[in-house]
Amino acid sequence: MSLRNKNNAVKTDNNPQAFRAKVAIRRNVLDAVGRGAGVFDAFAGSGEMYSAVWKDAKHYTGCDQKPQRDGRLLFCADNRRVMRAIDLRPFSVFDFDSYGSPWVQAIILADRRRVAPGELLGLVLTEGAGFAYKSNIVPEAIAILTGLRTGIVGLSKKQDAVIDKAIAGLARRMNCSVEKRWQAEGRTGAAMRYIGLVLKGKG
Ligand SMILES: C[S@@+](CC[C@H](N)C(=O)[O-])C[C@H]1O[C@@H](n2cnc3c(N)ncnc32)[C@H](O)[C@@H]1O
Repeated sequence: MSLRNKNNAVKTDNNPQAFRAKVAIRRNVLDAVGRGAGVFDAFAGSGEMYSAVWKDAKHYTGCDQKPQRDGRLLFCADNRRVMRAIDLRPFSVFDFDSYGSPWVQAIILADRRRVAPGELLGLVLTEGAGFAYKSNIVPEAIAILTGLRTGIVGLSKKQDAVIDKAIAGLARRMNCSVEKRWQAEGRTGAAMRYIGLVLKGKG
């Protein structure tokens, strides 16, 4: 399936089109960063993305708060605690396939994983904070990355602009440029956005 750029993102239903889009985004990110990459899959779940793509990376470590008994190397814990504790340098692809908002994990990444000049870092985000935007609530991590404050009216119609601002804020925080971006969107009311980024460390 073709993935469009961010301004013309392909629309998907949750399944199986969303699945195909999520796989294609991860495949693009892994190909861009290189198969020698180590992947940290912070919302590892039952391993659909592992089976479809991440198994082809050089090494893989997952994390899920629910036990998964399928032989993958996994932390069974809250990923925020794990990401604040472990050495993140062995990983150059991070998958934040959350149900809701991936931005807290993205900020932890930005603050704990230095990206060397010229180094490529892959980042995959599932963003579904649309429900919060409908109530004009700006989740704290988004406020940190964008400078937006809760109470802005009509936020739900501006989800994509908020995401663009958050990605720009994240890239700034990581001292990176955004080299590549792929995006697909869900058609359902949950307003899911599936995003793949390749960031490059600035000098
Ligand atoms: C959308 S599913 C992930 C699907 C997975 N990427 C796959 O390929 O099968 C989200 C998963 O994140 C886990 N999760 C949610 N919050 C978490 C957290 N703070 N730390 C670790 N896991 C979390 C849930 O238990 C759930 O399994």
